[in-house]
This record gives sequence, structure tokens and C-alpha cells, in this order.
Amino acid sequence: MQKVKKVGILTGGGDCPGLNAVIRGVTKPAHDHGLTVLGILDGFEGLVEGKAMELYNKDVSGILATGGTILGSSNKGDPFHWPEENNGKIKIVDRSKDALKNYQAWDLDVVITIGGDGTMHIAHQLSQMGMNIVGVPKTIDNDLEATDQTFGHDSAVYVVSEALDRLHTTASSHHRVMVIEVMGRYAGWIALNGGLAGGADIILIPEIPFEWEVVYDKVVQRNMMGKRFSIVCVAEGAKPKNGSIVVKSKDLKRTDPVQLGGVGELVSKKIAENTGLETRFTVLGHLQRGGSPTPFDRILSTKFGTNAIELAIKKQFGRMVALRGSEIKSVRIADAISRQKLVKPKDQAVLAAHAVGVSFGTEKL
Ligand code: F6P
Repeated sequence: MQKVKKVGILTGGGDCPGLNAVIRGVTKPAHDHGLTVLGILDGFEGLVEGKAMELYNKDVSGILATGGTILGSSNKGDPFHWPEENNGKIKIVDRSKDALKNYQAWDLDVVITIGGDGTMHIAHQLSQMGMNIVGVPKTIDNDLEATDQTFGHDSAVYVVSEALDRLHTTASSHHRVMVIEVMGRYAGWIALNGGLAGGADIILIPEIPFEWEVVYDKVVQRNMMGKRFSIVCVAEGAKPKNGSIVVKSKDLKRTDPVQLGGVGELVSKKIAENTGLETRFTVLGHLQRGGSPTPFDRILSTKFGTNAIELAIKKQFGRMVALRGSEIKSVRIADAISRQKLVKPKDQAVLAAHAVGVSFGTEKL
């Protein structure tokens, strides 16, 4: 049986802390096994357009703690949904054959694909065309069911918790209601875990639609009890009961055109109007995706990377590394993409938060 000799590696979708640690975790052991590593640039865009560079140990040395990705990333380079601009009009075309052509021209035996839900969908489609793929799950949103945690999430939660510590002091000085909007798309993990770690008084997440009156009551009650400030941590995908998600804009070039954002401002405005309390809002935005990974993410990323190259060498193609308890296992990419991980209203973190007085904007959980 032919041995694996050349490995491609790419980072797809939105970046997050820990990507470089995975690239290092793949590349160093690959060289120890005598393999060549080709870094594909800017996610699938590089695979379609033929942009790549060979990675040597010197390229991955010293990158464990650096944020971002040395390979570049993109969420607009889906080979099956490629946006072509002509006279200001966007036409979506299929360029998957170009991706396959480059894979063959580069003489790759496998591509290690690091990404979230969207990236894994594309990886799965490419594997159906004959490409050998090994997946590594990444996203600050932590919304992949197949793994107990994605790397990047812990770092994002750390940023949220630190921001909440800072908001607490200014909120309490000025007796204000401080609303913070955090990322997470359609999952509330960042708001839940970040809000819990940062001592938020109200946490609003997509999985538990909130009631405006319950939110107003909570801040007013706190005020009456002498707590003259409140911290509200809102997931960008949170929505009121019978209401809808707040969309900032749509960009047809992206794999998922919807860009969320704006619910923090709305919550802040409505609280001010309906309670008379002074409010301010902060949108934490891409601060949650930037900077150095936490020690947890550095360790998880390194384990993911080293296990992914092992899968590749053993020709366990079509599989994705996953954290199960404290062990790294692997799952079929086909199974991994079929299930999104959302917060269950009876999740232990929800119950713990509730037990210490956090409101989820609803009377009944
Ligand atoms: O999926 C990661 C994520 O940061 C989401 O939480 C957020 O909604 C989205 O990406 C933002 O994407 P962009 O960086 O393209 O604006």
C-alpha cells in the first residue's frame, strides 16, 4: 500500500486563537515522519486558485502562542459556491473542479482541513469528489455536536469574562445598566460561558427566547434591592419570544450570507425606554477572535494537530478529530456535520447560572 508522502493543510472560515498551534502540531510530527507539508493559503480560496507554500519547521517555530493563522483564511472561498463579480453583479459558480485539479497537480495525498461547520461541509463535498480529507474542528462558537469543545472557544470566553470584569467597575461607578453583545451565531455558548464567568446578571441566548418584561423587571428589582447597576450579556443571535433575530447585513459572497449584529443596541435602548435607567452598550466583536490562545486552547490545538497527522498517516480519511471527555477521538466528517450543538435549556451551566440568580429573560426555563 502506498504511503502518505505529502500533506496539504488549510484554515477555513473565520479565524480564531489556536489555529497556529494546530498548524505547528501537524507540521512538526509530519516532518519527523519524513512527509512534505504544503500550506494552502487563504482557506479553500488557495485550493481553487492554486496558492500554497511549503511549510518547514522554521515556519512553525514560535507560533504556538500567536493568534490568527500564518496561512490566512477566508469565508468567501467555497469552491461549490464561488462568487464571481461582473459589472457589479455577483454570479455564483462551481469551481470545485479547479480545487481537485490543484490537489492533483500538487500531488497531495491528503488535506488537513481546519475549520468550523461550513468548512467541514465543504471538506465533506470535496471528499465525495475523491479528495482525501482529515478534519480539525475550530470555532469560537463551540457549535459542533461531534466534539465536546472546539478550540478557540475558551479564548473567546476569556475575552468576554475579562470585558465583563471591566464593565462591572464602570457600571457600578455610574449606576448604569451595561449591555454587552457577544458573538456565537445561532448558538449561545459564548454568552452563556462568558456571562457565567464574568458574573452577568442577565444572559440572553438564542436557545431561550426572552420576554422583554422579565428583562425590565430584573434590572428594576436589582435597583430596588440597592444594586444600582446591572450587566446584561447578549448573544448576537438572541431573540425575543415571538420576535426575530437581528441581522446587520447580508453579503452574498460569503458561504453564509447573513451577518448578525445589533441586538445589544436594541436591548440597551428598550431597557432605557422602559425602565428609565441609564444604559450603555458595548459590542465586543472581533476582539473575541483575536490575540493569543489561552493555555487550554494551546493544549487542545496541539493535541488536535498531532492526532490529525496521525490519522492522515494511518489513512483514516474522511474523519475529524474530536474531544470526548478528556480524550481525543475521531468521528466521521459526514456524521459531524449533520448535528449542530446548541445550548439545552437544562444544560448544567444554565442551571448553575440560574441557581446563583442569573436571569435568562424568561419566567420559566
Ligand atoms: O463563526 C465565528 C464568528 O465569529 C461568529 O461568532 C460571528 O457571527 C461571525 O463569525 C462573524 O463573521 P465575520 O468575521 O465574517 O464578520
